[in-house]
Order: sequence, then structure tokens, then C-alpha cells
Amino acid sequence: VIAHEAGFPESNLYLFPQIDSTNQWLLDQIKTGLNNPVVCMAEYQSSGRGRRGRTWVSPFGVNLYFSLSYLFKGGISSLSGLSLAVGVVVSEVLESYGYMDIKLKWPNDLFWQDKKLSGVLIEVAGDLTEHCWVVVGIGLNINMGACTASSDINQPWSDLNMLSNHFGVDQPTRNELLSQLISALFVLLENFEKNKFGSYRERWMKRDYFDSLKVEAYEGGKKITGSARGVDSHGHLLIESKGVIKSFGGSDVSLRGG
Ligand code: BTN
Repeated sequence: VIAHEAGFPESNLYLFPQIDSTNQWLLDQIKTGLNNPVVCMAEYQSSGRGRRGRTWVSPFGVNLYFSLSYLFKGGISSLSGLSLAVGVVVSEVLESYGYMDIKLKWPNDLFWQDKKLSGVLIEVAGDLTEHCWVVVGIGLNINMGACTASSDINQPWSDLNMLSNHFGVDQPTRNELLSQLISALFVLLENFEKNKFGSYRERWMKRDYFDSLKVEAYEGGKKITGSARGVDSHGHLLIESKGVIKSFGGSDVSLRGG
């Protein structure tokens, strides 16, 4: 219904009790032919995946795991910065409920108090030059604390329950939250196609996790140390090192506080 309201009258929402990965399911559907934007959501993922080949721990029934597919007419080069814009929109939806101080860690992690709250994984398929299918996958921790699986996560994590307690927010249901996220993301995808990352840059910068901090970036095994200077209008990371600002856009760049 929400996707319909957002202007996609023929889009469908698929809800699975369990699946390997909602991103993978959509990529498979794209291979067999997909005409409309589709949303896929699961209560449990047996092979939920994160960026850089990592696993996304996906216990049953407590969090949100979902993906959207969308056909970009501009091809892969028009997608630069899309994952950052997705982070902006997810943060803004959460802020609309009173969840504040959410930070965006380049390229697309959502953090709260230095603990990961949500991750975004964008994958592409099809003819990447002109028509490019994009799968935007989002994992949002809501009640991770209730699960023993939380001990399998090898980095500090937060969940919406923690934020609800902290901010005294009446927590929305997962249904409510999912519908808001889906409609905001479809609006983003349409807008991004026209206006690119430029229209999201300022909104990303004010949530920059590393804002001016010392960082270490690794690109192709090479280490670069400097001060984080946000991102440029393509969503590329900017690091100032010895008075020179360099930009990093590659998918092989990893970043951490220095
Ligand atoms: C990351 O932070 O590394 C990205 C995590 C993305 C996880 C989501 S959960 C829904 C979708 N399906 C997947 O297999 N991964 C994404």
C-alpha cells in the first residue's frame, strides 16, 4: 500500500518468514525478469550479508531485514553516493520519531553512541551501462538485545530499544517503521535519479561520524592517515593529509578512527 501511495501502483511487497538473504532473493528475481519495483522483507535470514563479504546476523522476528529493487535508467555511473543518501533517509525517518544523534559512518553505516544501529548493502544487476537494477538492502536492529544471537556480532551494536529508553520514545511497531522507511526510500530513489547525491550532501555532512577526526583509510592495502573532511558531491570520502585533501571512492576503501 505504501509503495502504491508513493507512486508505484504495480509494486509488490513479499514477506518471508525465512530466507537466505532478501538482497539475494531480489537479485535472483531480477535475473528471471522483474518489471516493477519490489520490496522483499524477511523475519529471519540464514545468510544475511553485509558489506565486504561479512555476515549480517539476522535472528528471527526482532529486527528489520528488507530490500528494495529499483531500475535506474542512468546506469551504474549514476549511482555514486546512493548508499550515503540511503543512510541520510533512514536517519531522518528515525529522527522523525524522536531518535536523535544518529551518526553516519562512511560509506553507509548508522551509528548511535559509537555502536552500530543499522547497515546498508547496495548491489547491482543487469546491463550496468544503461539500465541498471539496484537492490538496496537494509538491516535495522530493533530488539537485538532480546536474542542470544547478539553475542555473535563482532562489533559494538545498538538497537532501537536502547534509543527508545534513552529518549523516552514510544517505540513504533515494526510494521509502522517499515512502511515509513519504504515510502521514504522510494521517494529517495526517484529523487536521486534526477538530482544525484548533491541534494543529500549537506544532510549527510551534519551527521558525519568522523567529522574532522583523525582517521586511517586503507585502499588496496595502502594506509593513508589524515583528518576526515566529510564527502564531496559524489559521496567520495575526503581526507586531509599533509595539507592536501584527497578523495576516496573505491569499494575497496576501509576506514577507521585513527
Ligand atoms: C553492512 O553494514 O555491512 C550492510 C548490512 C546490510 C544487511 C541487510 S539485511 C537485509 C539485506 N539482505 C542482506 O542479506 N543484507 C541486507
